[in-house]
Amino acid sequence: MKKLTSESLRQLYLNFFKEKGHKIIPSASLIPENDPSVLFTTAGMHPLVPYLLGEKHPEGTRLTDVQKCVRTGDIEDVGDPSHCTFFEMLGNWSLGDYFKKEMISWSFEFLTSEKYLGIPIEKLAVTVFEGDEDAERDTESASYWEEAGIPKDRIFYLPKKHNWWIAGNVGPCGPDTEMFIDRGTPKCSENCSPACSCGKYLEIWNDVFMQFEKKADGTYEKLKQKNVDTGMGLERTLSILNGVPTVYDTDVFDGAKAQIEELSGKKYGESEEVTKAFRIILDHVRTATFMLGDVKGISPSNVDQGYVLRRVIRRAVRYGRQLGIEQGKLSTIAVKYVEKYSGVYPELNDNKNRIIDELNKEEDKFSKTLTEGLKEFNKVITYIKGDVFPGKTAFRLFDTFGFPIEITTELASEKGFTVDVKGYEEAYKAHQEKSHAGSEQKFKGGLAEQNEVTARLHTATHLLNAALKVVLNDDNINQRGSNITVERLRFDFSFDRKLTPEELKAVEDKVNEAIKANVPVVMEEMSLEDAKNSGAVGVFTQKYGDRVKVYTMGSYSKEICGGPHAKTTGELGTFKIKKEEASSAGVRRIKAILQ
Ligand code: ALA
Repeated sequence: MKKLTSESLRQLYLNFFKEKGHKIIPSASLIPENDPSVLFTTAGMHPLVPYLLGEKHPEGTRLTDVQKCVRTGDIEDVGDPSHCTFFEMLGNWSLGDYFKKEMISWSFEFLTSEKYLGIPIEKLAVTVFEGDEDAERDTESASYWEEAGIPKDRIFYLPKKHNWWIAGNVGPCGPDTEMFIDRGTPKCSENCSPACSCGKYLEIWNDVFMQFEKKADGTYEKLKQKNVDTGMGLERTLSILNGVPTVYDTDVFDGAKAQIEELSGKKYGESEEVTKAFRIILDHVRTATFMLGDVKGISPSNVDQGYVLRRVIRRAVRYGRQLGIEQGKLSTIAVKYVEKYSGVYPELNDNKNRIIDELNKEEDKFSKTLTEGLKEFNKVITYIKGDVFPGKTAFRLFDTFGFPIEITTELASEKGFTVDVKGYEEAYKAHQEKSHAGSEQKFKGGLAEQNEVTARLHTATHLLNAALKVVLNDDNINQRGSNITVERLRFDFSFDRKLTPEELKAVEDKVNEAIKANVPVVMEEMSLEDAKNSGAVGVFTQKYGDRVKVYTMGSYSKEICGGPHAKTTGELGTFKIKKEEASSAGVRRIKAILQ
């Protein structure tokens, strides 16, 4: 097997698929566009859902990229050898173009050829879908693997639980074939297979044959086109190829790890406790760096993405303290990541000051209450009868001292208590209901649901963007962020003062005028250059591909965008601004609804 650095693995992968006729597209933002059902981009396919469902992609039918991803479902497990909240996924897509035969032969070539990963065939094992009432047994994929040279006894048929891929509950999905490295350890049992967790088999790549859409009622509908969606975790693959024990031993962490050693005077690996703290800091600071440095940069807060960011920063602060790292030093670890990754993600360097400032601010805020909160925690546990830490108290630690639940859970478990997390959630919810901040809908549903509602709100966002320029008579107003839930749109734009009630009314009227005119929403594909020349507005700090889609609504709006949109403005109903406020220095925020 080839020993590779993160830089060379990315390059090898993208070049390989470029040679097979794929366009290299930039990583999308970590914050999903127009998808209120999830907080973060969790896989390479996520930003491509509309295209997997049949929309035409401006760059064609063969795409490849390396995508920034965040998955926080297992955040409590970070600290063990394998979990990370941030990772990069290498992937390639066929949007109704090639299918199983080509993909399997390319996967085999990339994995085994000396020019690429050079993995010996005898170290490979693969799995395919065994079939059920929803889709047939995938003998076709198995036969291509056999043709390529994988012996029959290394091809395993497995059920949906293992060999079917979907993001969330609904949306594009299909059977997959997964590739594993056999570490050569003995079989754990007669039935040992890549499905078991004995550690003999390590997953390296997943090819999904997306040909169905799972509907909210649980049924599978055939898609118009047969797609391929693949995913290879960068860090995981690197650790396997280089024969290092964990993802934390790969080069992406080298600079940050050395910095933590310098700051703490401790060595990674010197004890289990120290290693765990190192991993949590390494992971959480990296995640915070990418969130703060994203093109749609978010800030720590108590809701949505901002709260996840707050949690990872605060947990890193706590473990930093444990290692003896002084206050105000987390940002020096973040800088190591900016240096390591800016070649691939230039937005990190562009936002370097923001990353440092926000980290310092949040660390400062939490440091003030951390000591007090720890005192309070230590006091409380002397009163508790039994071994359950009350949920209400955990909520008080959050509300008064800013302790995210994971911190309280960890502190409690170190002292032999279990937190009543349900009680905590109830107290949290009761508080949210009181402050009307809750949005029960937020986590329900999946990717493809509520598409129409969000498409309308998204279309209204274009009209709002255009109306602001007209009403405030300022062509330099630029979009600074956009976020859509099923209930409302939120639009951030550069402007340096509060809008007057008259101006807000005029903006509302202007948008409603465009809606009443009921003009069609027309999409044209063109080069980025032509789009700019045509006067289309866009977020030019964002990385667009060479070809873009331009959406025009009569004379009201012309904007570069990926969609999805309503077909005519008349579908939008009535536009109403609910709130106008400052978002950050020089940036205003409008929240609006459609009635
Ligand atoms: N979407 C597939 C995955 O994330 C490739 O594994």
